[in-house]
Amino acid sequence: MKDSITQILKKDELSRNDIVRLLASEGEERLQLFTESERVKKENSGNKVYYRGLVEFSNICDKDCYYCGIRRGNKEVERYNLSDKEILDAARYAYENKYGSVVLQSGELSNPAFTRRVTRLLEGIKKLSNGELGITISLGEQSRQTYREWFEAGAHRYLLRIEASNPELYSKLHPNDELHDFHSRLNCLKLLRETGYQTGTGVMIGLPFQSVDDLAGDLLFMKETDIDMVGMGPYIEHASTPLKKYKNELLPLEERFDLSLKMIAILRIMMKDINIAAATALQAIDPMGREKAIKIGANVIMPNITPGMYRDSYNLYENKPCTDDSADDCKGCLDARLSMVNAEPAYGEWGDSKHFYRRQKIKGKR
Ligand code: 5AD
Ligand code: FES
Repeated sequence: MKDSITQILKKDELSRNDIVRLLASEGEERLQLFTESERVKKENSGNKVYYRGLVEFSNICDKDCYYCGIRRGNKEVERYNLSDKEILDAARYAYENKYGSVVLQSGELSNPAFTRRVTRLLEGIKKLSNGELGITISLGEQSRQTYREWFEAGAHRYLLRIEASNPELYSKLHPNDELHDFHSRLNCLKLLRETGYQTGTGVMIGLPFQSVDDLAGDLLFMKETDIDMVGMGPYIEHASTPLKKYKNELLPLEERFDLSLKMIAILRIMMKDINIAAATALQAIDPMGREKAIKIGANVIMPNITPGMYRDSYNLYENKPCTDDSADDCKGCLDARLSMVNAEPAYGEWGDSKHFYRRQKIKGKR
């Protein structure tokens, strides 16, 4: 006989089958899952939510991922690149508003001028905040030297989503060339860890060709790689990308949304002390999407502080929220919406991954 949800939720380790069962749960069983993940979250991080001011500083990208609205092959998007001053001003805004940390993200480029520019920016952000702002970067696949240079310049967390942990699925979402090689991406995650970053990954949920079994595999991948942070959210089709032709084969948006919540809830149960971000893509489907994710397991939110006039052009997917707001609009409404789910912004704190420090301690003891 199959285990009941109650039995599954009591286990120390979830198997692939258990995860598939939880992902398929409905009605009362689904609520049981969310009640348990909420409990685990509260036990480990209380009601605290960490803010990371997100600066999407350029949408110029050398890569051509089939799902992404800012891929090199999309000639319809207007390209932008913030000035150093605009980026530093946005970081100053985060500092003055006690966001605790910033995230620098852009399209993926790797050349010496770009590397040096990022180093300069990292040093600039450390300087303007007296070393107080935490810095996460999300700048794709780079060499070991580049990762090291940025780490030494002050970045201490790095996000690199694996996007899909099944290599076969990965190859259907990316061009089949050296720039988009699954194993290189995996190796980058390893390099990041070795360099000393708190390392984050993530996947998209509800992709064409993706099965529930693939999603279970994604969660097991996160557990096996002992990742420190995760950001994952629903896939949302974009009209000027190759994947749009599978539009009619996708799950309805509400189902992709619900699966994303379940993925977060299950991961929270599997990895109690990691940081999990409530992805912005959740909000593109449901105006309270990120808050719902916070309620059932996520503990990080990334308010967009990119200067408003550029936000429209960082359209990874359609219906991206808040693209015409200024940073201030977002701040006021976020605090209010978080209070609706009993969450408290942890102003001025870095909110590092507890998991990272626990692992460091264990390593030190060996
Ligand atoms: N839908 C949802 N998420 C997307 N991303 C890129 N394109 C899409 C899309 N169409 C995500 C990727 C990437 C992150 C910056 O945005 O997972 O890592
Ligand atoms: Fe820019 Fe994938 S299209 S990294």
